Amino acid sequence: MPDELFDLKVGYTSFRNPIALAPMGGMTDSKFTNQYAADAGLVVLGGYNLDAMTQAAASQMVARGREEFISENPMKLIEKEIRSIINGSTVAVNVRSTTIEPLVEAAAIIRDNGAIIELDAHCRQKEMTDIGAGQALIHEIPRLTEWIRKIKETGVVLSVKIRGNVIDDAALVKAIENAGADILHLDAMKEGAGADLKLIKEIRDSTRMFLICNNSVTSTDSAKEMFARGADMVSVARGVLGDSGLISRLVADISATQKEAGWYNAPKHVCRGEGDLRGLAFCCLPVKSCPVHSNIKKLGLTAQQFADMKIDFAKGTMLEYGDSTCFGSLVWCCKISKPCFLRDGVLETLGLSDTEYMRLKRELGDYIIGQANKSSHGPKNG
Ligand SMILES: Cc1cc2nc3c(=O)[nH]c(=O)nc-3n(C[C@H](O)[C@H](O)[C@H](O)COP(=O)(O)O)c2cc1C
Ligand code: SF4
Ligand code: SF4
Repeated sequence: MPDELFDLKVGYTSFRNPIALAPMGGMTDSKFTNQYAADAGLVVLGGYNLDAMTQAAASQMVARGREEFISENPMKLIEKEIRSIINGSTVAVNVRSTTIEPLVEAAAIIRDNGAIIELDAHCRQKEMTDIGAGQALIHEIPRLTEWIRKIKETGVVLSVKIRGNVIDDAALVKAIENAGADILHLDAMKEGAGADLKLIKEIRDSTRMFLICNNSVTSTDSAKEMFARGADMVSVARGVLGDSGLISRLVADISATQKEAGWYNAPKHVCRGEGDLRGLAFCCLPVKSCPVHSNIKKLGLTAQQFADMKIDFAKGTMLEYGDSTCFGSLVWCCKISKPCFLRDGVLETLGLSDTEYMRLKRELGDYIIGQANKSSHGPKNG
């Protein structure tokens, strides 16, 4: 069901908020989900093992103590499980297979139930990778992209789940996007170091796919760090096991942020290398030597083209005003969280709320990246 507060849509699906339950094989079924993730915008069920080979691998994993979903009729189980989610969350189903046919069959069922199929290219358990399933897929990009194309032919909304920092992420993400996937579900794991925030920013700058990020999220602050690097949605797996209220708290806190600030995943300024390219919406007129230049170069733009783009966008909007600000227009002004009496004075005179100002900046960020992609420019770091 579309939500007034967030405008989050991918294909035929929409999300009421940007918090998700991530899949945990053998655990995240409808019962688990209804208990721990009743408020989530998205719940990812599974991973389900669709063919005899992945079922046999899962049985071996169970024999050594892991939990896994094993069923003689996985297609029927998937349909029953999707229909058992009763709380208004959008549903995705994480799946593994060694051949394409069961994936296409599952995709049609999942599509008919208004859900999302999620291809598990993430599982690194040896039993799965030895048979070419899970993370083995990212080491065979031609097979991965052929599967993405075939799954997409069913018309299903497709998410691909990967772990970062395993192979060249930029090349992998481009291949996944070019093959037609709608969503990238990124485990931003950095071995021994939790979530790799820099990786999230780099991937944000290299793709326009809807980006779900996870790893080690246990608090609103850790989720916000991911949102500020460009995650459209943040998912949680292990965090809910020791804290059954985690998802509800994240949903409440991010909803409050969206209400107060108007842009729940607003980027940081690009000055210190933390903000992704959307942060160019907060940049000054490019007249001095500073990181704005390296960032607009990534988009293939000259300083003049960048300045023209911002001026074009501002025309006819409230961002056009602001004679008394540093560069004569709000279009060059900073993020609302940076205190500034000059900008705030203009906002007050115009009767423009902080939320509305940030909403315009969000549109401006999308406009700059969209225009650069449309022309012969486009991200040069992808
Ligand atoms: C017990 C367990 C089972 C998991 N099973 C799957 C799976 O079947 N498919 C998948 O794509 N990811 C699976 N994951 C990975 C999680 O979805 C998630 O990406 C990872 O745990 C990092 O997020 P976290 O730090 O919030 O746990 C599993 C994780 C755990 C801990
Ligand atoms: S243009 Fe302004 S906001 Fe952008 S990087 Fe330079 S100093 Fe920072
Ligand atoms: S007027 Fe304030 S908000 Fe605008 S660019 Fe100058 S310092 Fe930033």
